Amino acid sequence: MVERRHLLDVDDLDREGIERILDMARSFAEVQRRPIKKVPSLRGKTVANLFYEPSTRTRLSFELAAKRLSADVLNFTASASSVQKGESLKDTALTLEAMGVDAVVVRHPVAGTPWLLRKWINATILNAGDGMHAHPTQALLDLFTMRERMGNLEGKTIAFVGDILHSRVARSGMKACRFMGMEVLAVAPPTLLPPVAMEGVEFTCDFDAALPRCDVIYMLRMQKERQQEGRVPSIEEYVRFYQIDAGRMGRARPGAMVMHPGPMNRGVEISSEVADAPYAVMTAQVASGVAVRMAALFTLLGGAEGGDGIA
Ligand code: NCD
Repeated sequence: MVERRHLLDVDDLDREGIERILDMARSFAEVQRRPIKKVPSLRGKTVANLFYEPSTRTRLSFELAAKRLSADVLNFTASASSVQKGESLKDTALTLEAMGVDAVVVRHPVAGTPWLLRKWINATILNAGDGMHAHPTQALLDLFTMRERMGNLEGKTIAFVGDILHSRVARSGMKACRFMGMEVLAVAPPTLLPPVAMEGVEFTCDFDAALPRCDVIYMLRMQKERQQEGRVPSIEEYVRFYQIDAGRMGRARPGAMVMHPGPMNRGVEISSEVADAPYAVMTAQVASGVAVRMAALFTLLGGAEGGDGIA
């Protein structure tokens, strides 16, 4: 068990902690293949999903993960709550706390929100994406997906490609991949690269030159909702240099795989042909998401008496 009670970013874990969660996720993935997919590990615990931003995969898989651990689940969607009447985040959090919630899974457009919640309430906090900042469970499920396919990740090369500037997925993902000993490239037009270097990450604007080096090509969504001004001359131009399509895959290393956190903009960062190809593992990422979030919830909430949580 890791001692920490929160998962705010991947730095809350060291390599050993990450590997423990991934190993546990493997057992939970096995549970997902049983006819009865539920274990009693978190019976009596309550998990609240506090979502202030749209989400499909993250919200559904946290919900499913908690339910399959037999926890009670509250789903709070800001757009259908008293937030619409002006209630603050703090009062909302205190309300959940008063109801005896054990864990809060939070997604919020403002970076740092999960750290505020940690100060305000006693529940375990899991960051499900804060602004452009961090998305640790996405990073863990991506590591799990890669490890299941490639085995040891040490020395393997991954390129994060596209709108890195606005991407919490890339920020947590790059750190997590470095922890595991991977070579990490950040590939984007100069206007979509972060302004400051990230330790151990090689920045490049030349996707075609980077491709033959990559074991994993991790495509990012063009985050139009976070872009105040046009950061690329035109979508056509972006597609020409940065879309992963069948032609570019021809330049990639044999056996290279393509990942994307979803939601995809087909025809922008990824062609439909690539999105539907066998080397694209997006549905495996989604399936991993449930098992990895079960492992994260159990690690944080299960306590020492819980064993490995699998009956
Ligand atoms: C991402 C997110 O919301 O951070 N999606 C996800 O969680 N799977 C990425 C995105 O929105 O592009």
